[in-house]
This record gives sequence, C-alpha cells and structure tokens, in this order.
Amino acid sequence: MDSPVLELLLNGDWGPWTPVRDRLQKWRMYPELVRTLRELNRDELFRSPVHGEGHIERVILLGALCAMERDLPDDDVRLLLIACSYHDTGRLSDWLDDAHGRRSAYKLERITGLTGDDLAMLMAAVEAHSRRDADMDGILAGYAPKDPERCRELARLLKDADGLDRVRLSDLDVSYLRTPEAAELAEFSRWLFDAYNGELRKRGETPPSKPDYFDRELVTRVRDRVHAALQEGQGIMETVAGCLTQLFACQPPEAMLSHPCGVAWREKACGAWEGAVCFVRDYVLQKNGDPDGPTAKFRAKFLDQYRSDRCEDLRTFGFREDDPVWVCAPYILDVILFTYYFLTRDVTFDEPDGP
Ligand SMILES: [Fe+2]
Ligand SMILES: [Fe+2]
Repeated sequence: MDSPVLELLLNGDWGPWTPVRDRLQKWRMYPELVRTLRELNRDELFRSPVHGEGHIERVILLGALCAMERDLPDDDVRLLLIACSYHDTGRLSDWLDDAHGRRSAYKLERITGLTGDDLAMLMAAVEAHSRRDADMDGILAGYAPKDPERCRELARLLKDADGLDRVRLSDLDVSYLRTPEAAELAEFSRWLFDAYNGELRKRGETPPSKPDYFDRELVTRVRDRVHAALQEGQGIMETVAGCLTQLFACQPPEAMLSHPCGVAWREKACGAWEGAVCFVRDYVLQKNGDPDGPTAKFRAKFLDQYRSDRCEDLRTFGFREDDPVWVCAPYILDVILFTYYFLTRDVTFDEPDGP
C-alpha cells in the first residue's frame, strides 16, 4: 500500500485513540477519506522531509477529523480534503515563504479539474493558508466566493489541519489554532506523527530527520547573503555560485562567466541551476576529483527534486522576461542549501596525499 496513513487506518494499532478511529470508520465521509489517500497525486507534491508526502498525508487525516467533529456538509468535506492534499504544491523551498499558498492555488485547476465556485473556494483557502490570519478575509474576497462564510470555514479548517502537523517541528502552539475541534486534536496529532514514522520504519524506510535538515544558523546566514547579493544587483547565477564559494571557503568558479566548464548551456535554463552545477563541477575539480560522475549525479538529483531546470517551469506564477530577480529568492536559497547538502553528503573526496 502506498499510503502509510491508509495502512494505519486499516490495520494500525491506535491504542488509546481506537475510539477515534472507530468513529471515523463509521463516518459517512470515510470512503471519501480513503479515496483521497488512495488517489492522491503524489507526483504533484513538493518533495521534502518537512512539507512532502508525510506532512500531506497527516494533514489529510487531521482535516478529515476536524471536518467530522464540526459536522461539515459533504461538499465542503470534499473541498477540504482536496485543499489539504495540494496546499503545499507551490512550495519551492522548506523555508519561510508566505507566497507558496498563492503558487499552490494557481496549480489547482490543472491538478483537480475543478471549475466555477468550487475552484474559487479552493484557491481562496489554499492561497490564504500561508498568510497571516489578519489577511484572510481580504484574500478570500479576491476570489469572490458565492458564500463567503463557507469559504472562511474552509480556509480556517485548512489552516488548523496544517497547523496541527507542526508537531513534526516540535512547534505546535495550540493557542494559534482557530477552532476548538482542532485544539482537541493536539495530543492526537503528536501520536499520529509518531505512528506515521513507525509505519515508515516497518517498511524499512528512515523517517526524515528534522534537526539535521533545519540548521537555522546556516539558513539565516545564506538567506541574508542571497538578499544582499540580489540587492547589489548580482544575477542569479553569480548569487548562487558566490554563496556556495563562501560556504565552502574555496576559490570562486572562474570558469563560470565564460561557460567553458563543460556544462551544456541551454536556452532559458534557470540561473540557479546553472550557478549550482557550475559550482559543483568546479569544486570537484578543485578537490582534484573527476567532475563527470558527481555532475551527472547532481543533475539527476536536481531534476528529481525540482522536476525541471528551466526558468519557465520553476516559476509557477508564469514566467515573464521582466520579472525582478527577487521573485526567485526563496528558490535560490533552497538551491544553494540543496547543493551544499549534496556536496557535503553525496560526494566523497579522496583525502589528499600526505606531504
Ligand atoms: Fe504551506
Ligand atoms: Fe502544509
């Protein structure tokens, strides 16, 4: 079975939470929950240990429980389950990025095939999920849903279901939740996170390690450098290569600007990709390694993570020639960290010969 949460629902040991599962299984919308998990379009989800499949599966279940406890009408349950499924598809990074809800919203028509008022409600809720509560009403009004109260309920429940899974970051503050039904689920969401990881272990998979990935000091340092570089008017390629040069305290990739570093430059390739791959190649050369293997591995990993190396695919708002570079700032930060982790973990260098 592809879905660990579905496995938990069907065959898991819920311990003290068994009555919750029993009620869920008797709920009239239980088949819809099962269908959502089974038919979840996993290819569309952001790939990440923090905002990837595990987070999405748990948010779907938490959303279903909130909906059941609030006795949401059937049509709204369906919309909520879809919102939970695809609310983070517009993420470009795991770091703070309050525009990702909007990017996700713009993908919903293609992913779900919905139209009309259903689509408007869904887009409104998804866009609002990554913004402050104070901005919610204005964002929802922008989509002109037929029933603003219904839309507001949807948006609030999405935020609460998403918020409950903050347990994965050890960062759930119940006072931020909007509904009493969600607040009641705080303990359950802790159990769910552990049970989910237990399910992964049973499959021989290692649950994602959060502290390892979230090195706050590193992220802040790189983010500040990215912003400074962009403000100075540096291009994306120089920004990426420059930040990596600093992180590794090495020589800048000289070859970068004249393009002779063996990379096949392509029309409309993303500058962050170009800067990163150029750096990888140059760094391996500086370490006296053969760059072909690591460069090919980096390319495969990059495409697996971002699914493309072209500007127009990576900017999910659509690509315009006159976009300012800061549109890509969260993505640039992510590519730098991605490359940093690649070079520190996935590539091994022979120790230099002794004197
Ligand atoms: Fe999100
Ligand atoms: Fe989320």
